[in-house]
Amino acid sequence: MSFATLLLDLRDGLATVTVNRPDKLNALNDTVISELGELAGQIATDDAIRAVILTGAGAKAFVAGADIGELAECDSARAFALSQKGSQTFRRLERSEKPIIAAVNGFALGGGCELAMACHFRIASENAKFGQPEINLGIIPGYGGTQRLVQLIGKGRAMELIMTGNMIDAKTALQYGLVNYVVKSEELLDKTKEILSVINTKAPLALGKCITAVNAVFDHSRNGYNVEIEAFGECF
Ligand code: COA
Repeated sequence: MSFATLLLDLRDGLATVTVNRPDKLNALNDTVISELGELAGQIATDDAIRAVILTGAGAKAFVAGADIGELAECDSARAFALSQKGSQTFRRLERSEKPIIAAVNGFALGGGCELAMACHFRIASENAKFGQPEINLGIIPGYGGTQRLVQLIGKGRAMELIMTGNMIDAKTALQYGLVNYVVKSEELLDKTKEILSVINTKAPLALGKCITAVNAVFDHSRNGYNVEIEAFGECF
């Protein structure tokens, strides 16, 4: 499958997917969101893909947010539809039974922070910056940010970031638990691949069950302990 806004490089089971709109700091327009949805489908069905790294094109940004030009065109009904589509797409990525790791190579703002948070975990370069600046535009995060930021860094810190619109640097993101590692920019992909090289030696079925069971912690419609019991049984 080829995409207009995503680059996909598949080697030895590892798909490196790059959001590729560097002139717009990889901002998420409608096409990018649609293609991320198609990507989620491909990850699920393509046996050649065992794990995914998600990153942004260029040295400056992972993804600098939803496309502000498109947001400016929205009325309430369009904004609702946009949020619903983005939110559902990110949930598909989060629920992927194959590992998806964000390699955050610069600004991860708004929808970019939300995209990184929908991945299973995050590794950042030293120049990465995170934030939910929607409040500066008189809006709120719309792709799951109010939920996942709380899950990852706790209510107080999430409230502060979402209400101030302030950015945090990579070191603070590490201290908050938003990212697992901070490395030099030139080492970002190698570090991510190193971790995935360990994960990729594990049983794919069990990996999928790990993801499903851990995600169930945050799914209020399910009892996570029961999800774990079922998943445990299904591994045999
Ligand atoms: N949507 C659309 N375009 C964006 C964008 C976004 N979220 N973020 C950056 N861009 C575009 C800029 O408009 C600019 O395009 P242009 O050269 O055609 O004018 C280009 O990307 C480079 O951005 P620029 O602002 O010149 O870079 P900078 O280094 O001065 O600032 C940021 C970087 C990330 C601080 C700044 O771009 C920014 O604040 N972006 C918006 C972040 C945001 O609010 N995201 C959440 C949206 S809900």
